[in-house]
Amino acid sequence: MSGSAITPWVVGNWKMNPMQADAKELLSGFKKLLQNNEIKEENCHIGIAPSMLALTSVQAELASSVRSIYTVAQNVSRIAGLGAYTGEVSAELLKDHHIDFVLIGHSERREIFNETSQILNEKVKNALTAGLTIIYCVGESLEQRENGQAEQVVLQQICDITAVVQAEQWQKIVIAYEPIWAIGTGKTASPEDAQTMHAKIREGLTQITPFGASMAILYGGSVKAENAVELATCPDINGALVGGASLNAASFYEIAQAFANTK
Ligand code: PGA
Repeated sequence: MSGSAITPWVVGNWKMNPMQADAKELLSGFKKLLQNNEIKEENCHIGIAPSMLALTSVQAELASSVRSIYTVAQNVSRIAGLGAYTGEVSAELLKDHHIDFVLIGHSERREIFNETSQILNEKVKNALTAGLTIIYCVGESLEQRENGQAEQVVLQQICDITAVVQAEQWQKIVIAYEPIWAIGTGKTASPEDAQTMHAKIREGLTQITPFGASMAILYGGSVKAENAVELATCPDINGALVGGASLNAASFYEIAQAFANTK
């Protein structure tokens, strides 16, 4: 399967946003746009990752959408199961609430919350054991890119999880390449640079797993309606992880439309 034969994913990462009333308005606006049935499920998977607090209310809102939209957790505990772990939410608890997707390895978690590869591996292992699908984020800093280390850093982040992902489980992983310098900065990697990295990631994945050729590799970092078509045209860019622009119903819709129509 070539990179462009993969059904794209467009996932909105709401981060620590928005307030309840705004979330309601955002979702109803998005659902209304979807009613024209232009974005078919077979042409684009769509997901929304709200805060932990809003997971179940967003899920309930999305249930009345004309098409399925996945509710995605932004985080999961490094601890599995149930127990005396104040403030934590385990993969099993997510699954029990019918949340089947989770982001792991976002650069904000790695950098601000000091999530090391060991911690991330615990999360990946628990999430897979509980049957969740993971959107695993990788990406280099500006300094690493300027030092010519971008590829090495990104491939290492993927190699890190090979210790805990079992053969069949690679089917439950989506990769999101998010250069740190492009997140929330308005700077997007050029489609050429993004495609080059995505092709390297694809090559790395095919060496690790037979599923490598069919795994979706999303791009993230200042994706907006204005640059979505250009990114969607790249053969190894199979969708987008969208931060800021996912907080606007029309922008998020246009991004999903760009991927659905281009792929
Ligand atoms: P951004 O965030 O689209 O606001 O740059 C992307 C992300 O961090 O997932």
